[in-house]
Amino acid sequence: NVVERGQFTWEAPSNIALVKYWGKKAGQIPENPSISFTLDACKTITTLRFEKKQNDGAFSLDVYLEGEKKDDFKPKIQTFFERIEIYMPFLKDYHFKIETSNTFPHSSGIASSASGMSALALCLMSVEKELIAVASSAVETSLEDNYFNLKASFLARLGSGSACRSIEGDLVVWGKHPSIEGSSDLFGVKYPFEVHNNFKNYNDTILLVDKGEKQVSSTVGHNLMYDHPFAQERFKQANKNLFNLIDILKTGDLKAFIEVVEGEALTLHAMMMTSMPYFILMKPNTLEIINKIWAYREHTGIPVCFTLDAGANVHVLYPEKETVRVNEFIKNELVEYCQSGHYICDKIGFGAKRV
Ligand code: PMV
Repeated sequence: NVVERGQFTWEAPSNIALVKYWGKKAGQIPENPSISFTLDACKTITTLRFEKKQNDGAFSLDVYLEGEKKDDFKPKIQTFFERIEIYMPFLKDYHFKIETSNTFPHSSGIASSASGMSALALCLMSVEKELIAVASSAVETSLEDNYFNLKASFLARLGSGSACRSIEGDLVVWGKHPSIEGSSDLFGVKYPFEVHNNFKNYNDTILLVDKGEKQVSSTVGHNLMYDHPFAQERFKQANKNLFNLIDILKTGDLKAFIEVVEGEALTLHAMMMTSMPYFILMKPNTLEIINKIWAYREHTGIPVCFTLDAGANVHVLYPEKETVRVNEFIKNELVEYCQSGHYICDKIGFGAKRV
């Protein structure tokens, strides 16, 4: 009863944080809890093929992106394997071929680390499940799904922090918060409270302002929070914003939602601008878009708002029932600020799927 070879394919979505994670402790432990919308269209599809090899004390893997061999991705995955080996003791017993592709363009400024690491973690969980099933038939099936997703999220976190919020949908919390039972620094959990219809099928149109590589990686950015003069206040604020969101999500208060979400996006970038060394990831067109959104909202009363990731692209968030009007606004007034006029229409999604 040894598994010689096999393959699994998973697709996992990206996610966009409403309350941001920025700053971490050793072991990929977040300094503050965060909450995100799981996305739907932006995802990574990964096939993991594995074949038994001699355990020679080394990892053996090949990585392909969109069919092309990518040796420069290997060190990152190797580091990931090193971190998770104690939880996945079979990693050195197999050769792995990782074939991955994204539904969004490779150079779009959209980080594929969240969707990529969660897809890979899920494939590895499928391998573990098969090895356990073959070795023993005494697995408690009722525990299985919960264990599977939690451990996948736990592993994904060790690949890239925010990846742990890309296993499930539609709202996911990562980081211990006293008001959210079951929340943990170690993995993401499905948001456990009532969510008003206003937030069902929420839209996220991603305006691609700058498709280039970020000048400052999020790893460097997180580390700059260590000696940051405003760090402790920021971590407190994130806890408070998450607490306030619980009521906002329940009552459907869009005005209060917008205040929290836009405030979080600007605070994230304010932390970057006030770290040492300081840096700016927004571009002039990011600000043009923000100002256009504010003017449009003021003028029409339509509850459209923005959020930002660690980059120049703008996520335009709006309720499903405003889709027609907001799409017209985006086409008429915002597309001109996108690089090559490119943007991606996405919405809240419901998590990863085995293919
Ligand atoms: O998961 P990382 O280490 O790439 O950090 C992501 C940080 C933000 O995207 C800026 C915020 C978040 O909570 O996703």
